[in-house]
Amino acid sequence: MKTELIPVNQENIDISVMARAGELIRRGGLVAFPTETVYGLGGNGLNPHSSKAIYAAKGRPSDNPLILHIADRNELYSLVSEISETAEKLMDAFWPGPMTLVFPKSELVPTETTGGLDTVAVRMPRHPIALELIRMAGVPIAAPSANTSGRPSPTRASHVWEDMEGRIEMILDGGEVGIGLESTIIDLTGGIPTILRPGYITQSMIEEVIGHIEVDKASTGENSEHLRPKAPGMKYRHYAPRAEMTLVSGEHTKVCERILALALEQRNRGNKVRIICTEESRSCFSEFDAVSAGFRSHPEMIAHNLFRLLREADLDEVDVLLSETFEETELGNSVMNRLMKAAGYHIIRV
Ligand code: TXA
Ligand code: MG
Repeated sequence: MKTELIPVNQENIDISVMARAGELIRRGGLVAFPTETVYGLGGNGLNPHSSKAIYAAKGRPSDNPLILHIADRNELYSLVSEISETAEKLMDAFWPGPMTLVFPKSELVPTETTGGLDTVAVRMPRHPIALELIRMAGVPIAAPSANTSGRPSPTRASHVWEDMEGRIEMILDGGEVGIGLESTIIDLTGGIPTILRPGYITQSMIEEVIGHIEVDKASTGENSEHLRPKAPGMKYRHYAPRAEMTLVSGEHTKVCERILALALEQRNRGNKVRIICTEESRSCFSEFDAVSAGFRSHPEMIAHNLFRLLREADLDEVDVLLSETFEETELGNSVMNRLMKAAGYHIIRV
């Protein structure tokens, strides 16, 4: 299949391009598109064949459910069988935006889309291209992140091209995304609302709106590889660069010393070594290939850059990646959730 790559200016959206992309989706094709979090791989969420095609294009296990994207809250009523007051409050506060809510599903949603579950994850993105595409398609768009299963999520159209060229009909290139981490997922189908996947919208931001919530322990970094996560997708190996990756955590000067020692040791073995650091620590690593994820004091910069840095390490054929950790803030912990998986939970504490 030939994949079309079409630039779209989000400030001046070409409606004829969007109409064509929407038509493709409605008829069962796959179109990758930007959202404010990461690029999504979109198909008709009400068509079981589209969902199967999404799993095939990603090489994703079919028990890993997809998120339905809508452009208007009215579309929710036909997709779910119950909307609690808590859900209403969360939607008032955070939609459109990087928050996904899990509801009991209605009959309309095929089980192919929900990986066999009787619940459905729904989100209203904020990105103007995503919203226009959903409107033009006239159906809810099922969209996982547009990466091959297991690889870092795409934050640029070129990342989608790397993974999906020849596998899908169209990629809408809306430039680099803003946030760079996938949405926060909240399960509203049990008793107390529970964060299944941390993201840009943090626990305390949510608690300000609805009071106490739980966090699925399997979604937090520490020892979580042994727990069974409630979001099926969280159990798979994820975000992994081809390089062997090690994280070093602890007091700043000790972290620098240990990373330097490891880098030297690996370089002497003939490995191509790269260090992921921060602006604050950059000078410490001047003898090595060190790339900055941003200012430690600005975790949103680190969230924005992380997946790109993991992909660039692959493109540059890095053998060994060494990285600092970022657990000081809530958003930093969302970053750590991805970084721990990328490193296969390989972390050294100094
Ligand atoms: O920001 C995002 O959420 C992006 C953009 C494209 O919207 N999408 C995304 O989708 O990250 P994906 O498929 O890569 O991740 C969806 C996660 C998976 O971990 C999946 O298991 C979980 O959501 N999920 C989906 N439906 C669920 C459900 N009914 N119950 C529990 N977890 C669910
Ligand atoms: Mg994903």
